[in-house]
Amino acid sequence: MEGVIDAHTRHLLTVRPGFDWTVTEFVRVVDARLPPRVFYKHCPELQQDRITTPSGIPVHLQLLGSDPEALAANAQQAVRLGAVSLDLNFGCPAKLVNRHDGGASLLRDPARVERAVSAVHRAVDGAIPVTAKIRLGFSHRRLALDCARAAERGGASQLVVHARTRDEGYRPPAHWEWIARIRQHVSIPVVANGDIWSLQDYWRARTLSGCDDVMLGRGALADPWLASRLRHWQRTGETLPPTPWHVRADILCSYAALQRSTLPNRVVVSLLKQWLNHMRGRDPEAAQRFQRLRRLTDLDTFLAGLAEGTAQETSL
Ligand SMILES: Cc1cc2nc3c(=O)[nH]c(=O)nc-3n(C[C@H](O)[C@H](O)[C@H](O)COP(=O)(O)O)c2cc1C
Repeated sequence: MEGVIDAHTRHLLTVRPGFDWTVTEFVRVVDARLPPRVFYKHCPELQQDRITTPSGIPVHLQLLGSDPEALAANAQQAVRLGAVSLDLNFGCPAKLVNRHDGGASLLRDPARVERAVSAVHRAVDGAIPVTAKIRLGFSHRRLALDCARAAERGGASQLVVHARTRDEGYRPPAHWEWIARIRQHVSIPVVANGDIWSLQDYWRARTLSGCDDVMLGRGALADPWLASRLRHWQRTGETLPPTPWHVRADILCSYAALQRSTLPNRVVVSLLKQWLNHMRGRDPEAAQRFQRLRRLTDLDTFLAGLAEGTAQETSL
């Protein structure tokens, strides 16, 4: 997720069991082959022997673009740099990206989805899997099935479907039942995505979509233990208790410790506010702390505010 899921976040989210794989923020492909540093910036894991988080969870690289030739050239570059899987983004709703003919704008013309996937598929020549991420359409759902079929025809080995159109942005509800319709028209595995914030959402999304697998987005930032909760429930049928605030604060403090080695403190504070903002919709304690800390700019004061009172909480 652009601007919110970098390598440090991927690391922290995958420390506990739950995720099977993760995806980078998109690498924006316009017209030329990008230099290695751009790939390394989005996916520092490429500089390791194994393209995984420190816990061993694979990291897939995502490309966003519309020009088949440029996508193909960058796919080859990604393979050369060691990528283990390439995902193509046909879901981004950002106005700037769509104005430049990227992300969800291709969903207006399924043939273009097919050409983009096919160019990348041919370019990697079977060396690594190519997957696609789509929404249900741009401003309507009439082409949803065609777009899914186009991605499959192009050679995608898996499809993640964010169950909203581009114009629906991130507004609830996600139309998981549409994913079930898509599943009937393709034979590749389909992963359900959109609005999975809890075990109940997970269960409803699976039931309505018929998918075995789901992708978590904002829900994993709001509750970094969500994937573990789902996994624990799958394995045992039991639900884990909510995570106490001091444990939530710990993950934010670990995030700051990782980020502050390379970024200025004020940037780290902004990143912490961004993550706390994702947490606060589902967690009253996070909401209170956000209110109290949101005007702070000093990193150590911010961290103290996150941890305040947690020693007591621990000893309770
Ligand atoms: C801030 C933000 C950045 C995102 N960046 C990406 C991205 O780079 N690539 C991508 O495939 N999806 C991206 N998404 C979409 C999410 O992956 C996901 O499809 C969407 O948020 C719906 O799932 P959710 O309701 O679980 O969040 C982004 C979403 C948000 C909110």
